[in-house]
Amino acid sequence: MKAGVWAVCLFPLALLLYQFQQDNLGANPIDHVTRTLGDWTIRILLSSLAMTPLRILFGISWPLALRRLLGLFAFFYVCLHFSVWIVLDHFFDWPQMGADIVKRPYITAGVLALTLLTPLAATSTAGMVKRLGGANWRRLHRLVYVAAVLGVLHYLWLAKKGVNDPFLYAGVLVVLLGVRLLDWARRAAKKRWAGVTASEDLGLTRRRVLVLVSVLSIGLMGWMVWPVGGQAPRSGQPAPDIAGAPWINSPPLSLKDLKGRVVLVEFWTYG
Ligand code: HEM
Repeated sequence: MKAGVWAVCLFPLALLLYQFQQDNLGANPIDHVTRTLGDWTIRILLSSLAMTPLRILFGISWPLALRRLLGLFAFFYVCLHFSVWIVLDHFFDWPQMGADIVKRPYITAGVLALTLLTPLAATSTAGMVKRLGGANWRRLHRLVYVAAVLGVLHYLWLAKKGVNDPFLYAGVLVVLLGVRLLDWARRAAKKRWAGVTASEDLGLTRRRVLVLVSVLSIGLMGWMVWPVGGQAPRSGQPAPDIAGAPWINSPPLSLKDLKGRVVLVEFWTYG
């Protein structure tokens, strides 16, 4: 099974290298490579988070053995994705990168996600589990949930209107986290009400847990979706800031930088 994970996870990279060798990376090669690596980061990250829900929902436990490998592949892809941004997008221009991280919420979220995933990758060995102790290790590795939320937010914030993929990933994440939350709440309730056999009490607890999970899931979804709606242009409202495209010929500009100046707008596209 691990060989299958290696094959599936290395395939997109091999394809990119093949496309590069064939000079077939499209009209905007940097964009194509950045986006392909970003897509695979989120896919593999969410796959690693799907292993435990599979056990909870269907009692299948063998995929748990693939969690670590998938997590490391997600980290590998985000490192490549980040490297393309550093080397090809900004060509090691550190002040420009710093400004980008501060100015663009989607970059801030991406960098935070990468930062959170780094200690997880560094402590993924059996030796580190022993050194940290099982309980501490598990506590530290809960950061993967925060990293996944930030990864999905990163995609929601950068996506243009009409692109549905980020919502699909957000939905998958909500389901994956919801299943865990429901399972955790069920176990907590079981512990708390151990000995209480009255079916009325248990029924009430189950209903409360269901309401709690539904409210949290809807809240999480709303919180993820809100910034996209908030940034969408609306008549009568100030124009949204310029975002969503890589800067090619200048450092990033914002509307604030252009205020009070005469601006010539030239539209062009490629395909
Ligand atoms: C866990 C962390 C991250 C995940 C899951 C992730 C995921 C993604 C995804 C799914 C996309 C869009 C792909 C598409 O449009 O098909 C994307 C685009 C992008 N990401 Fe990330 N990313 C992460 C971290 C980062 C970091 C650390 C940076 C750089 C500081 C970064 C910079 C970018 C850029 C520049 C784009 C392209 C934006 C555009 O073309 O308009 N990402 N990322």
